[in-house]
Amino acid sequence: MKFFIDTANLDQIREAQSLGILDGVTTNPSLMAKEGIFGDAAVKAHYQAICDIVDGDVSAEVIATDFEGMVKEGEALAELHENIVVKVPMIPEGVKAIRHFTDHGIRTNCTLIFSAGQALIAAKAGASYVSPFIGRLDDISSDGMDLIEGIRTIFDNYDFGTEILAASVRGPMHILECARLGADVMTGPLSAIMGLMKHPLTDIGLAQFLADHAKGQH
Ligand code: E4P
Repeated sequence: MKFFIDTANLDQIREAQSLGILDGVTTNPSLMAKEGIFGDAAVKAHYQAICDIVDGDVSAEVIATDFEGMVKEGEALAELHENIVVKVPMIPEGVKAIRHFTDHGIRTNCTLIFSAGQALIAAKAGASYVSPFIGRLDDISSDGMDLIEGIRTIFDNYDFGTEILAASVRGPMHILECARLGADVMTGPLSAIMGLMKHPLTDIGLAQFLADHAKGQH
């Protein structure tokens, strides 16, 4: 399972990278805004900075919602770095854009996936990744994991090359459940990744080891 971090915060990206387990980064316009990154030049410079930290796929989202606009923006983003994956929303114009990018060798991440049908369409258009949003489904009393399971079954039935990128991950249990269901990738906050490492018995055990070791130092 690949681990992506879902942030535009460079310090958090560096921290996750330093663990040696990071495979990529996802961003979205809200995450960029959270870091105060606005305007074409600043956004592009920020993507470049992220690509300089992480040697893995970096999703960069288009803002346009029409085919021509998405293609123009996506081609410019893809030119920034070979690791850029153009993130395109699941709308009909987006599907056309994904098909265009696929035919021109540009990798894509189809975002805002909330149903298996949407994932199927994105895969047929040749998306490199589909991003089902688990947490946002859970927020409305729907089961995000059912969606992961449904997409996994469909993709396996037809051997689609599209990877399932479980998004809107909120905590460590989301990551574990996605791994159990066979999501190819998860993207989540640093807190969810760090949470996977925590166990009280590890802390208690380590404290005991260090205390016992210290006894021999006197
Ligand atoms: C996916 O790529 C999105 O950036 C992200 O996972 C959305 O998550 P949220 O629901 O926590 O905003």
